[in-house]
Amino acid sequence: MILDHSFFESLWSTNLEFDIKSRIDAYSLDCKFLNSEQEDDLLSIINKEIDAGSFSRSGPHRISAWEGGWGENLFEYSVTRNQEFLIPKYFGKSSVHRINRHFVISNDREFELKLLRIIQLRVFSKYLRDAGAIYEFGCGTGHNLLYFNTLYPGRRLIGLDWSQTSQKIIESVRTDQDLKNLEGFRFDFFNPDLNLKLSPKSPVLTVASLEQSGQNFEAFLDYLISQGSRRIVHIEPFHEVLDSNHKLDVQSISYMKARNYISGYIASIKALEVKKRARILELARSFVGSKYIDGYTTMVWEILE
Ligand SMILES: C[S@@+](CC[C@H](N)C(=O)[O-])C[C@H]1O[C@@H](n2cnc3c(N)ncnc32)[C@H](O)[C@@H]1O
Repeated sequence: MILDHSFFESLWSTNLEFDIKSRIDAYSLDCKFLNSEQEDDLLSIINKEIDAGSFSRSGPHRISAWEGGWGENLFEYSVTRNQEFLIPKYFGKSSVHRINRHFVISNDREFELKLLRIIQLRVFSKYLRDAGAIYEFGCGTGHNLLYFNTLYPGRRLIGLDWSQTSQKIIESVRTDQDLKNLEGFRFDFFNPDLNLKLSPKSPVLTVASLEQSGQNFEAFLDYLISQGSRRIVHIEPFHEVLDSNHKLDVQSISYMKARNYISGYIASIKALEVKKRARILELARSFVGSKYIDGYTTMVWEILE
């Protein structure tokens, strides 16, 4: 089955702009839905992996793992100077993905990356297109910022991450590609650098990075609030929006818990909203994901004056 623009318009109950529709159709996203028996077999395999403790938990001890992962990307990028090598290696590892709470198989190794780009097309256009500068926290190689730059060229792009290899990659890309609008800084969600001042009103983006803070996101949230009013855009695996009565979602939630992904953040933002210190503009699951997780939920909110 080809997932064209009308598939996503119906999945997200929205009308997409002409340019976004054309970009989606150009991807020719092809996949095959598993039948119900195959789905149950796969769920049982995944649940056994989770029960066996096969997955590492996020937390401060993971810094060296990230340095190692981004080190591989840095090496390959340094040799080739090809931006394809900035794509994290966890993309394309499996041919299994999830669409609308069903498993699908695709031979397209970029299937999940394309799904993420489709989400970003909608979200960037709706919430970030007027930004003069964007701060991506937990940016890794910076490929999301570079994608933003292809859509809305020339804006100031600031990538922050606790991994020093991330800053090396960004410096290297800045020089090689002559991108004077790209900068990288070190930043740790667990120990925010209070000397790092964000430019007034400039939006913040996180993509599958705040997930790594588990329940330990308060320091980052306090830091953000201390920086004054601005828009915050997250594309993160928030387990709270999933359906605890649906078998695929139940498995996603178990996986998120096994990995110690973010938990309780939505409640904290809702509490700020009650105190009129924040306004939530969007909290929407995307109904697309990878083999293990339906994790591309968007949350957009604003820190109020
Ligand atoms: C799954 S990767 C996502 C990277 C990037 N946002 C992307 O979409 O490719 C998670 C990122 O979070 C970063 N990270 C994990 N814990 C962090 C922390 N405590 N402070 C800052 N960044 C952190 C990792 O170094 C890594 O770059």
